[in-house]
Parts: sequence; C-alpha cells; structure tokens
Amino acid sequence: MSNMREDMAYILAEEKEIKEICKRLGKQISEDYKDKDIFIVSVLKGAFVFCADVFRNIDIPCGIDFMAISSYGSGTTSGSIKLIKDLSVDIAGKDILIVEDILDSGMSLSYTIALLKTRNPNSIKICTLLDKPDRRKADIKADYVGKVIPDEFVVGYGLDYDEKYRNLPYIGVLKREIHENNKENING
Ligand code: IMP
Ligand code: MG
Repeated sequence: MSNMREDMAYILAEEKEIKEICKRLGKQISEDYKDKDIFIVSVLKGAFVFCADVFRNIDIPCGIDFMAISSYGSGTTSGSIKLIKDLSVDIAGKDILIVEDILDSGMSLSYTIALLKTRNPNSIKICTLLDKPDRRKADIKADYVGKVIPDEFVVGYGLDYDEKYRNLPYIGVLKREIHENNKENING
C-alpha cells in the first residue's frame, strides 16, 4: 500500500494550522456579514473540504449551494472553462461569498464571478484557502485568504492531482517527479 505522505516534497500546512485558519476566517466572516444576507457558493470539487470546515465556524444564519466548473489546462494556459454543475437556487439580492480551494491564475474565479453577476446578487466576495499570487493572470483579489503560498503544486485537504490526495487532512507540495510529466490533468 502506498504511503501518500511519501509523495510529498514537504508539508505546507498541517491539520492544526488549517484548523486555526478556518476558525479565523469563520470568525471574520461572521462579523462582516452579521447584518447581511450571506449565501455561500462553494466551487466543487476542490473546495468541498475547506468549505465544510469554514461553514461550521460561521455562527450567523448562512445558506449554501454548490457549483462545479472544469478548467482544461493547468492555469498557465488560458484553457477553456466550462460550467459542469449549476446552482439550484436563485441568488438575486443575496450577499454571495464564493469559497474556493485555491486562487492561482484567477481564470476560474473570473469566469465564476462573471456568471454569478448576471443573476443580480447584492454583492460578491471571495474566500480562498490558498492564494498563489505569483501566477495570477486575471485581475482578481480575494477578500479572505487562508494562506499565501509559493508557486508550487499542492495537494491534500480537497486539492487533487489526477483525482488523488483529496482525502489528506493536510496540504503538501507534491514531489516534482510525480506531477511534472502531466501538468494538464487538473480536475476542479
Ligand atoms: P485558477 O488558475 O485560479 O483558475 O485555478 C484553477 C483551479 O486549478 C483551482 O480551482 C484548482 O482546482 C486547480 N489548481 C490550481 N493550482 C493547484 C494546485 O497547486 N494543486 C491542485 N489544484 C490546483
Ligand atoms: Mg477549484
């Protein structure tokens, strides 16, 4: 049986740090949205683990729904983005908080924001667990950031490489030899 930890070059955030990040963000969000109609939009699949933890640290009434998009290309190419699963509720008038796993080139979030804007929400903000500012292509900034990270390919805590490693409770930098032959294989 393979030990997934052995596939990591190093660990970027252990469980304990991630827990503290979720607590901090949940508290901040609860304060900022206490007089608003907050509604969380979680972007599948990568964000589902993080979203579930932040969600439980928000202590004001808070709705949630899920959407899924796919991006072909690692984000370094302007690969085409496709809507795979749409929201099932009307977001008009709501204060939308998009919860994402990682803000990399920003192309996925630009697409998501443009789409949601057409549905007349009252406001749209972004909460991302990880921010890789070095690789940004779109003019986009997150309102809530868990951790700023270097330009490395990371997995775990929802983030995958070829659908693997999402179930790790920590975030690690994947060893280069494992992913460098196939950079195009990123699934949400
Ligand atoms: P974007 O480049 O900001 O559009 O990010 C697109 C998507 O690529 C993210 O939502 C992630 O699902 C995925 N992604 C970007 N960087 C990484 C990484 O380091 N590990 C795993 N997935 C990533
Ligand atoms: Mg994603």
